[in-house]
Amino acid sequence: MPVFPKGPFVVGAGISAHQTEGGNTFSDWWRFEQTVLRKRGDDVSGDAVDHWHQYADDIGLLSDAGLNAFRCSLEWAKIEPKEGFYDQNAIEHYRHVLRRLRQRRVFACLTLWHFTLPTWAADHGGMEHPEVRRAFVRFAKRMCREFEGEVDLWLTMNEPMVYAMKGYRWGEWPPGIRSFTRTWRVIILLAFLHRRVYRVFKECTHVPVGLAKSFISFHVGRRHALHDRIIAWWKNVVWNDAFFWLTIGSNDAIGVNYYIGETVGSGGRKQPTDDMGWAIWPEGFRLALLRATKHGLPIYITENGIATEDDGRRIVYIRKHLAALKDVKERADIRGYFYWSLLDNFEWDKGFEKRFGLIAVDRSTMQRIPKPSLAALGRMAKTMR
Ligand code: BGC
Repeated sequence: MPVFPKGPFVVGAGISAHQTEGGNTFSDWWRFEQTVLRKRGDDVSGDAVDHWHQYADDIGLLSDAGLNAFRCSLEWAKIEPKEGFYDQNAIEHYRHVLRRLRQRRVFACLTLWHFTLPTWAADHGGMEHPEVRRAFVRFAKRMCREFEGEVDLWLTMNEPMVYAMKGYRWGEWPPGIRSFTRTWRVIILLAFLHRRVYRVFKECTHVPVGLAKSFISFHVGRRHALHDRIIAWWKNVVWNDAFFWLTIGSNDAIGVNYYIGETVGSGGRKQPTDDMGWAIWPEGFRLALLRATKHGLPIYITENGIATEDDGRRIVYIRKHLAALKDVKERADIRGYFYWSLLDNFEWDKGFEKRFGLIAVDRSTMQRIPKPSLAALGRMAKTMR
């Protein structure tokens, strides 16, 4: 396993393409929005928050606030809208985004795949189909070559287990399937896919390659309930560790996405929740990080954030989570923190109402309105370096 020298600790924010750019017409999500969400009267992504056109200003706002890292994703459906046809204009667009980051000396974390598929790939059977996985490996190879030298940290995929659960277990996201066996099959296929893509990347880039994994801290309500303790232990192992075992030797860093602490069994103190209904538990973040350190690799917090209309609450949330992070950082190789999200954006099937952003967007004018939390995170960033 190559050793990657430790640079200064980076602090920034993240987004994904589909949630922010707009106009993702060749994607399975776009189709799902027109056929399922619109019928239910839910939001559709549409122009999203027009990050496609406003990326330069968005990066400017991030950097002016004192943040020095940005996580974004490539949109496969825009780059390869038809099978085998690569749209050079889309590739150039992402090159401009990455150049803008270089220009502002912002650490670039690029996710190859953040939940959405081109419709042609979905029509072939999505990631369950070997031909689609082969096409994804080709896409990975091409992207790695195109952007060599422009990226500081590559993530092959975002939250593979969340993707599988939402799309194949609960049927809430495309492809809308509810099957226990297919869920686990997809998880395993994605683990092997990550391994293949990792090998492809190792032939073309010298920067670290990993993936962003959702961590949930399961804990017991009643300390002495043995049954609950066993379940919490098991859930922690399956949800937080298993995917890394399946991809052992194919990660240069661990990407931790942390939002939720989940109580197993009854009792215990009731945790406050955010607008997603997710329990806020900074101590759970500390435990998740300690868990991640067991893999013996550098760690990046690739997502951490709160959905709330109350920006004061967001500031407190960030402060508490950074305090937990600092505690672990003294003993472990933690290299960066990305708040989720830079912008209020399209929160998948929950639409635009859930606001994670450091920056609000007036969607009638697409005007950016930085919230106090943006400057606050910028100030906190100074204390982390
Ligand atoms: C995803 C993001 C999403 C965030 C908040 C993560 O699961 O990677 O795309 O917006 O959580 O729900």
